Amino acid sequence: MTHEVVLIPGDGIGPEVSDAVCQVLERAGAPISWATHQAGLAALDEGGDVLPDTTLDAIRRTGVALKGPCTTPVGEGFTSVNVKLRKTLDLYAAVRPVRNLAGVASRYDDVDLVVVRENTEGLYSGVENEITAGVVTSLKVATDAACTRIARWAFRYAKSRGRKKVTVFHKANIMKLTDGLFLRSAARVHAEEDADVEFESVIIDAGCMKMVQNPAQFDVLLMENLYGDVVSDLCAGLVGGLGVVPGANFGDERAVFEAVHGSAPDIAGENRANPLALLMSAVMMLNHLGETRGDEACRASAERIRTAYDGALGAGDRTRDIGGELGTSEFAQALIRRL
Ligand code: NAI
Repeated sequence: MTHEVVLIPGDGIGPEVSDAVCQVLERAGAPISWATHQAGLAALDEGGDVLPDTTLDAIRRTGVALKGPCTTPVGEGFTSVNVKLRKTLDLYAAVRPVRNLAGVASRYDDVDLVVVRENTEGLYSGVENEITAGVVTSLKVATDAACTRIARWAFRYAKSRGRKKVTVFHKANIMKLTDGLFLRSAARVHAEEDADVEFESVIIDAGCMKMVQNPAQFDVLLMENLYGDVVSDLCAGLVGGLGVVPGANFGDERAVFEAVHGSAPDIAGENRANPLALLMSAVMMLNHLGETRGDEACRASAERIRTAYDGALGAGDRTRDIGGELGTSEFAQALIRRL
């Protein structure tokens, strides 16, 4: 059995890290055939839209994609390809597992948490207006339907993974309606779904303080779009940075796997990017294929890759962002030798 998966190389460091990941997956015997499509600046360069219909249609058809980061201009220009992709395909649950890796030095050694982020609304609704000269607004949207389904997803995820607690980070003391709805929905779903998973709510500013003091107190974190975006990067910083944190965006029918990091223009094209975050996202993808399509070969190749990168990191084979000397391609070659 071979699974067709859409590959979006992306912008900046995207092509370098995706190339490294494809080589590793091939060596690990992952039963994947890639259908490469563009999005972001790369799609514009080819004369198309930033998010071409052909790319969206391909993901609708295959149901699974591995995506490199796409650049979004700051303060001007086109709206985020990433946000548009998640909304268009209704990939409402972003999940980012954050844990220590052996051989990667960080301030903590006991981090093992998962950020679950609502991916389709909140302040990322993109409804911004200039009311009059010098006055602009941005609309934060929360719907009962979206708040309820992300809460349900988080509690079911926690239960299926044997996780003990779901903590909602919110600001319902100030945004009583929007964050209030998010919080109330989570509390209701907790009451309906399961008493085995503990439910906790923490105001996000205090939550960030608690996080940097003792991240081990958190298990699954549930939050709306913007908070999830910010807290994901904060959590990445607890375990060694953006080079080591994977992610996935799930809808009911499709899933797009991508690292938490962006296109890193400061190091693009220099063979310095750590491909591990995208590789770990690919491992999540292989496990997802194994789980949803019952293909043991996917799970086996995921396990081989995990063993290879654990071994490599433990032996000191690392990229510079995590204290090593290797370039992107040298790190990929170190993994390939182990495979
Ligand atoms: P970024 O994540 O690209 O970079 C932040 C810092 O982390 C930089 O110093 C970068 O060199 C470093 N870094 C990131 N990934 C790394 C890796 N794999 N290996 C080694 N170092 C790494 O965030 P930034 O600079 O805020 O955003 C750059 C662009 O990426 C923007 O256009 C932004 O909109 C876009 N972006 C796209 C995302 C996506 O496609 N899902 C997610 C986040 C940002």
